[in-house]
Amino acid sequence: MTEAGFTPRVFSGIQPSGNLHLGNYLGALKRFADAQNKGVQSIYCMVDLHAVTVWQDPVELRHSTRELTAGFIASGLDPAKSILFNQSQVAEHTQLAWVFNCVARMGWMQRMTQFKDKAGKNAQNASLGLFAYPALMAADILVYHATHVPVGEDQKQHLELTRDIAIKFNNDFGVDFFPITEPVIEGTGTRVMSLRDGSKKMSKSDPSDMSRINLTDDADTIARKIRKAKTDPEPLPSEVKGLEERPEARNLVNIYAALADMSVDQVMAEVGGKAFSEFKPMMADLAVEKLAPISGEMSRLMQDVNEIDRILAEGAGRARAIAAPILRQTYEIMGMVGPREI
Ligand code: AMP
Ligand code: TRP
Repeated sequence: MTEAGFTPRVFSGIQPSGNLHLGNYLGALKRFADAQNKGVQSIYCMVDLHAVTVWQDPVELRHSTRELTAGFIASGLDPAKSILFNQSQVAEHTQLAWVFNCVARMGWMQRMTQFKDKAGKNAQNASLGLFAYPALMAADILVYHATHVPVGEDQKQHLELTRDIAIKFNNDFGVDFFPITEPVIEGTGTRVMSLRDGSKKMSKSDPSDMSRINLTDDADTIARKIRKAKTDPEPLPSEVKGLEERPEARNLVNIYAALADMSVDQVMAEVGGKAFSEFKPMMADLAVEKLAPISGEMSRLMQDVNEIDRILAEGAGRARAIAAPILRQTYEIMGMVGPREI
């Protein structure tokens, strides 16, 4: 139980909108697997309804949803232990999202930096769904009364909004119904930077494929991308402090630490003072050892899409069993007339 009396429950989501990359793996998937393996009830969602807030080709969306599911399983998520499903199969998400559209304020949404980034200069032309995106995200989490949400740094603001929505709902109706969810943003993998520019986040939208390692890359490609990663001419410093002001070196050390399950201090004790010509091959070996089996397993799983669809449908059933009573109670609190319990 949490202090407020909620059973600990982890929820997180990833959009099926293109290739999974090392940032998604270290910032999200790997940490999801860690939570599952600690025995906390874990619910993970392919957020297809979030993906369509910007245009998605239907054939690609279907493929990406299945490939993302394969990526989850290949990263160690076990459909027998965690609930894995795609968002559009559980209607309670969008039903609660409507309620939250009525709780959240325009001013709160206007402050969201992800909206500003994604809408770009022409915000008038962005979809209404893109603007309301964080209210759907709050519904994803709160329709399960989830208490903990592991995500990368970039989602922090959305999780603060989720807390604001829960607090306002509880205050407006004088209840303690929704938990005040804890973001779980910790470790060296929560902000993986581009391999070409240490000041930019590794991202699927970067036009340069050399900027990221995709989970579908084979061993040779992974090793080549690390060998070519941008660095400065100096060898690695001998102490952690020396990484300040050296964003590319810092990023490679962080990635190494996250892949090896080591702290930055431990990594520096091992590799401090080495030239990149020595460190990069070590790093390439480690990355290939950890990532190549994932891409292999993903392509194996993708050969049987019926099995993937079965896993998603089964997960959706288990998710709905938790979400439906919580939505019904929400409606009840708000005064909606509904079926009587017999
Ligand atoms: P997205 O692909 O934007 O749906 O992100 C899915 C998950 O991966 C979220 O938890 C993000 O915070 C995380 N993520 C995305 N990019 C990175 C990155 N460069 N470093 C760490 N985590 C990331
Ligand atoms: N907005 C998240 C992202 O872009 C994806 C997401 C949707 C999510 N719903 C969520 C993450 C609920 C955590 C919990 O990465």
